[in-house]
Amino acid sequence: MKTVLVTGGLGFIGSNFIRLLLKDFSDYKVINLDAVTYAGNPENLKELESDIHYHFVHGDIGNRQLIDTLLAQEKPDIIVNFAAESHVDRSISGPAAFIETNIVGTFTQLEAFRSYCSAGNRCRFLQVSTDEVYGSLGAEGYFTETTPYSPNSPYAASKASADHLVRAYHHTYKLDTLITNCSNNYGPYQFPEKLIPLMISNALEGRSLPVYGDGKNVRDWLYVEDHCRALELVMRAADPGQTYNIGGHNEMENIALVRLLCNSLDRRLGPLPDQRPRTELITFVGDRQGHDQRYAIDAEKIKHDLNWEPQTNLAKGMEMTIDWYLDNQEWLKQVRDGSYQKYYHEMYDQR
Ligand code: NAD
Ligand code: DAU
Repeated sequence: MKTVLVTGGLGFIGSNFIRLLLKDFSDYKVINLDAVTYAGNPENLKELESDIHYHFVHGDIGNRQLIDTLLAQEKPDIIVNFAAESHVDRSISGPAAFIETNIVGTFTQLEAFRSYCSAGNRCRFLQVSTDEVYGSLGAEGYFTETTPYSPNSPYAASKASADHLVRAYHHTYKLDTLITNCSNNYGPYQFPEKLIPLMISNALEGRSLPVYGDGKNVRDWLYVEDHCRALELVMRAADPGQTYNIGGHNEMENIALVRLLCNSLDRRLGPLPDQRPRTELITFVGDRQGHDQRYAIDAEKIKHDLNWEPQTNLAKGMEMTIDWYLDNQEWLKQVRDGSYQKYYHEMYDQR
C-alpha cells in the first residue's frame, strides 16, 4: 500500500483524483487535507466516508504544525498538492488569499516535506499546476515544458511562484519533487463559477450566459478524469525533478463552446419555456482584465515518457458532463444557494 497525502481533495480535481485512486486502484490509502473553503464541498466525496482507505482531515496547508503532525503520524509516500485558490476572476478582485494559500501554503508544505525527508523518510511531492504560468499564446504555437514562465493574472503569478519554489527545492535540497502544468479541466463536481458549469447552470435556469469580450479567447479543454490518470502516472512513475505539461488537444473559442452547450441542452430538454433556443441567453459582457487570449498544450513529453494521452474528446466529455449536471441538480442547487456549506458545518463543527 502507498499512502498519499492529498491536499485540496474536496475541490473539483482533487475529489475526482481521490475517487479514481480508491475506485480504480487497490494499492492506495488516501489522507485528504482540506480547509473547506467555498470551493471545498464534503458532498463531493460523501460516498467515501466509510472507506477504510480514506481519511479526511480538516485543516489549512499553511498550518506547519498540522502538516508536521500529519507527516509524522501518517508517513505518506507521496504528497499531491491540489490545494489552491483556483479562480482567475477572484484573483483579480482579491489577490491576497492567492498569495497566502498558493505561495505561502506551498512553501509551508515544502518546509515540512524537507524536514520529513531529512529525517530519513522517502517521499515525493507533486505540485499540481497550470498552463497559465506560461502566459498567453497568439494564433499559433503551443506551450512546452521549456516555454518561459510569463504569468499574467495574480492567480497565474501565484502558481508560477509556487512552481519555482518546488523546482528550487529539487535543485537545492535534491528532494524528489514533480510539477505538472495542465490546461482547462471540465467534468463532474466543478464549482459553477468556472465557464462550463456556470453556463450549464445558468442555461438550465433560463438566466443570461455572460461571455467575456468578443468570446474569441481559446482554451484547451481536458476531461478531468484524463487529468487525474495523468497525475497518477506521474506520481507513480516519473523521475524525480521532472515537469510535465498535460493537455487535451481540444482547443475551442469560448463562444463556440457556449453555443455547443446551449444546443446540447436544447436537444435534450427542448427549448426554453418561451420557445427560444438557449443561444438567445448569450450576453456579451465586459472583458476580464488582462484576459489571456489563447492557451494550448504540447503534451508530447508525457506521451513519450509515460505513454499518457487523453482518452475523452470534447464532444464525448461534454455530453458526459452535461449528463452529470442534469443528474445532479440537487448538488448544483445546494452549491448555488450556499446550503452545501450548512451541510459542512453540521458534519464537521460538532466533532
Ligand atoms: P478548486 O477551487 O475546485 O478546489 C480547491 C480545493 O482546495 C478546495 O477543496 C479548497 O477547500 C481547498 N483549499 C483552498 N485553500 C486551502 C488551504 N489553504 N488549505 C487546504 N485546502 C485548501 O480547484 P480545482 O479546480 O480542483 O484545482 C485544483 C488544483 O489544480 C489547483 O492547484 C489549480 O491551480 C490546479 N489546476 C486547475 C485546473 C482547472 O482547470 N480547474 C487546471 C490546471 C491546474
Ligand atoms: O488553464 C488552466 C486554468 O483554467 C486553471 O489553472 C484555473 O484554475 C481554471 O479556473 C481555468 O482558468 P480560466 O480562467 O481559463 O477558466 P474559466 O472557466 O474561469 O474561464 C474560461 C474562459 O471563459 C476564459 O477565457 C474566460 C471565459 N469566461 C469565464 C467565465 C467564468 C467567460 O467568458 N464568461 C464567464 O462567465
